[in-house]
Amino acid sequence: MNNPQATSVASAQWVDEPQLRFLRACQRLPVDATPVWFMRQAGRYMPEYRAIRDRFSLLEIVAQPELAAEVTLQPVNALGVDAAILFADILLPVEPMGLKLEFVKGEGPLIHDPIRRLADVARLRTLQPHTDLGHVMEAIRLVRKELDGKVPLIGFSGAPFTVASYMIEGEASREYLHTKGMMYADPQTWHAFMEILSESLAAYLVAQVEAGAQAVQLFDSWVGALAPHDYAEFVLPYSRRVLQAALTTGVPVIHFGVGATTLLPLMKQAGGSVIGLDWRLPLDQGWDLLGHDVAVQGNLDPITLFAPTAILRQRVQDVLQRAAGRPGHIFNLGHGILKNTPVENVRAAVEMVHELSAR
Ligand code: CP3
Repeated sequence: MNNPQATSVASAQWVDEPQLRFLRACQRLPVDATPVWFMRQAGRYMPEYRAIRDRFSLLEIVAQPELAAEVTLQPVNALGVDAAILFADILLPVEPMGLKLEFVKGEGPLIHDPIRRLADVARLRTLQPHTDLGHVMEAIRLVRKELDGKVPLIGFSGAPFTVASYMIEGEASREYLHTKGMMYADPQTWHAFMEILSESLAAYLVAQVEAGAQAVQLFDSWVGALAPHDYAEFVLPYSRRVLQAALTTGVPVIHFGVGATTLLPLMKQAGGSVIGLDWRLPLDQGWDLLGHDVAVQGNLDPITLFAPTAILRQRVQDVLQRAAGRPGHIFNLGHGILKNTPVENVRAAVEMVHELSAR
């Protein structure tokens, strides 16, 4: 697939399938074509997924490793993407840590007993990923077996801020009133909470790598709500702890935020072999801001997948041109695939990326 000479030294630490173009791009090695996958590539826009979701809830799918593995593989087979992402959710650690999690139809996640004071933090337990989320580890092993080296498997977790925001608000939020309120009014509780949460998420990512994940992504989906000085003081040290633990395993680590243009230099400081970019800044400007000593992932606007093919092609081309064939670009959206996205456009986008970037 790629020039084998180029892999031998630099990829020594990636024992598994180092020749795959996704893993090569994470290491900023030359590739035969730009690798592409999509955040939320398994989901309701796919008929194969809906067929399973008609019979089982999200949490029921995740609890059954065979089903989770099947759903993980659906987009790999249907779309021709260059990586699989484990079917799971960033909120899975919430229940074993001691809070009740529910996905309410049409509304999203609901956590019944949110964290508001120090006594709530004191009741939390540190996640023991191998036992608490053993079904997730089993799904990873099954997916690896079924992929048989065809494409790599990405594991993931939520970042401390994003997971904390759900555990404090109890649901999705626009203002983060309670979350920021805790930072400002009760920093002792905030820091105590971030300690146990970051320790838990670090252990979770390391366990996923031990089970067979060949790269991991940290989703800080709601971090864009923060001013840089608040990120630096209240979040960066904890994201860093999780990222550094994951990096110690030797696999590539993708650090992704949404609406995080002003935070990019700080996110790079926190860590990651790859930084995820949303669509709010052209890819070349984002990469310039970060510096070219780190790989980037992104950054097509998810809505582009609803556009006429000619526009889609033009936008795919634009992202690739801004990456300029420089080693270290992984093509993705700027955020997850949306619910009613036409599958044929997603498949077309994969083909366009491969065709337009072929070296
Ligand atoms: O990317 C993938 O294909 C892997 C699976 C995956 C899911 N959630 C499954 C899921 C991943 C990577 C996630 C991450 C996730 N979960 C994030 C970060 C990514 C992002 O988009 O920013 C967040 C914020 C969550 C929390 C979450 N889970 C919300 C807010 C919701 C409800 C909103 C919605 O789309 O309904 C979920 C549910 C969820 N997790 C779905 C899927 C496929 C929708 C599910 C369904 O009911 O089938």
